[in-house]
Amino acid sequence: MHIDIITCLPRLIESPFADSILKRAQAKGLVTVNIIDLRQYATDKHKSVDDYAYGGGAGMVLMIEPIYRCITELKAQRNYDDIIYMSPDGELLKQSIVNELSLKGNLIFLCGHYKGVDERVREHLITREISIGDYVLSGGELAAAVVADAVIRLIPGVLSDETSALTDSFQDNLIAPPVYSRPAVFQGWKVPEILLSGHEARISQWKHEKSLERTLKRRPDLLKE
Ligand code: ADE
Repeated sequence: MHIDIITCLPRLIESPFADSILKRAQAKGLVTVNIIDLRQYATDKHKSVDDYAYGGGAGMVLMIEPIYRCITELKAQRNYDDIIYMSPDGELLKQSIVNELSLKGNLIFLCGHYKGVDERVREHLITREISIGDYVLSGGELAAAVVADAVIRLIPGVLSDETSALTDSFQDNLIAPPVYSRPAVFQGWKVPEILLSGHEARISQWKHEKSLERTLKRRPDLLKE
């Protein structure tokens, strides 16, 4: 998979890819992540990427021209499955969208800023809009990092234990069961006996029951889906 992230503030999104699982995924050659500074595509000597909104109103707007130049250059290099604009009014992110994106080859994420992007970018250049929740961030960078993280960890070979992504919360519309590690008793607080029994079938049944119980209690909306 190849991911291009277009931003006017590259430093905001560099660190999530420089550590741990996302760093290893790149080192193993399973994904390439390219962070692109939109200012490189500015057309004036001040490297401006934003301007006042036509018709007035508070806040600046990301201009179409640098974005068009950047996306056109990228599209000349490879075909993209989706060009995604991160926006609070996009499609609400959930695991099924992440699963779908993890099967794609090449993706572009465009990070919004200020009051957003010129609407013509959304009309003519963007193929999908994603929101990570009903709240407004100061820009799309953190949101793009959230989506990219959730997607990259699903690429086969990224997680050392291939099955561990399949047992994540939400994969089957259930919340994951509780997990425990050593010691078996700490300050008198015990690990459930069944987990120490070595009886695989019963343990698996117990985990499923706990998943259902938790989902019913914390996220009954998931069971309705
Ligand atoms: N940009 C600003 N807020 C956002 C959100 N909630 N999701 C995606 N992109 C955003």
